[in-house]
Amino acid sequence: MTEFNPNYINPQLLLNACPMYEKSPLIQLKSIAQLDVFIKDESHRMGLGSFKALGGIYAVATLLADKWLAVTGKKLTLEQYTSIEFKHFSSSTTFICASAGNHGLAVASGAKIFGAKAIIHLSEEVPEEFEKRLIEKCAVVVRSGKTYEESVDAAIKDANSSHGVLLADGSWKGYTYPPSLVMEGYTVIANELREQFTQIKKWPSHVFIQAGVGGLAASMAYMIRKYWQQQPEIIVVESEFAPCLRTSHRNGIATTVEGNVSIMGRLDCKAPSLVAFNALEKAHVDYLTISDKESIDATRILQENNISTTPSGAAGLAGLLKMYKTEKFQTFFAKNNFKPLIIVTENKL
Ligand SMILES: Cc1ncc(COP(=O)(O)O)c(C=O)c1O
Repeated sequence: MTEFNPNYINPQLLLNACPMYEKSPLIQLKSIAQLDVFIKDESHRMGLGSFKALGGIYAVATLLADKWLAVTGKKLTLEQYTSIEFKHFSSSTTFICASAGNHGLAVASGAKIFGAKAIIHLSEEVPEEFEKRLIEKCAVVVRSGKTYEESVDAAIKDANSSHGVLLADGSWKGYTYPPSLVMEGYTVIANELREQFTQIKKWPSHVFIQAGVGGLAASMAYMIRKYWQQQPEIIVVESEFAPCLRTSHRNGIATTVEGNVSIMGRLDCKAPSLVAFNALEKAHVDYLTISDKESIDATRILQENNISTTPSGAAGLAGLLKMYKTEKFQTFFAKNNFKPLIIVTENKL
């Protein structure tokens, strides 16, 4: 099944039982390029520094609970997730994935919380800082290949030749369930936003979401189209060196692209997630690419507003500024009707 059909209640229930959980802030800034901008700040999510914490930890928990059900014939209760008995049960499971940094941290954290093990493959492009943080989470780190795609291949081989469970955030034909769980975990963001906008009685006109393999963008777009009472335009922002979702959309089929290495390391994915691509095709979204320089400028602007992030984290703002400057845009939208939302997806490393 390549259909994305999440149940947003499940991750929310698990999170409500977690002492670390709190909603990430929704900030309103009036000073960004004279624009009134909503910012969903994911840079401190669950103490892990990015929204990815929502996906990997939830997917680990759910896959282990599935295994528990298969072995014991009983559904794991919320209280049992943190029991010694469950940790003991989980200790024979090793999760394996490739990562540009944040997904690996989420998987390693999930494995540590629930008593399992994690092996994370990082390409040589991934900053040393991630390796250190992964080791602190008790993960085994393997440096695999020059690019993200090479590290993905290495993780698949590793899982195939061992009894490990592959927990990728990308998906492809024949491999969709674990990455769909990762995306189901991200639904929490759009759900929180729905509550936050309902409370302040204001809604965004445009939502800019940066994409790597597309899991975040697709999860957000699905939730917005299904549950938000006011419908914004959705713009998926990619690096000009990795426009795999825009290219797939234009070709009408999931397409791998080629390109230079981007400074937006976490967005530098040349192959789209199949589940994400299919979900985006149904959500009526637009696509925009940005340059490395535009992402660096956006990072600086956020820093001037006391929000520390990286070019990957600031890419949504870069997309917004790029779109806002175009003549076509200026003619269509009076400034007052333009209330953009961006997501700052990670903290500064
Ligand atoms: C900070 C950050 N922003 C955005 C993304 C893009 O998410 P996705 O790969 O689900 O499109 C990632 C992915 O790792 C990320 O780490």
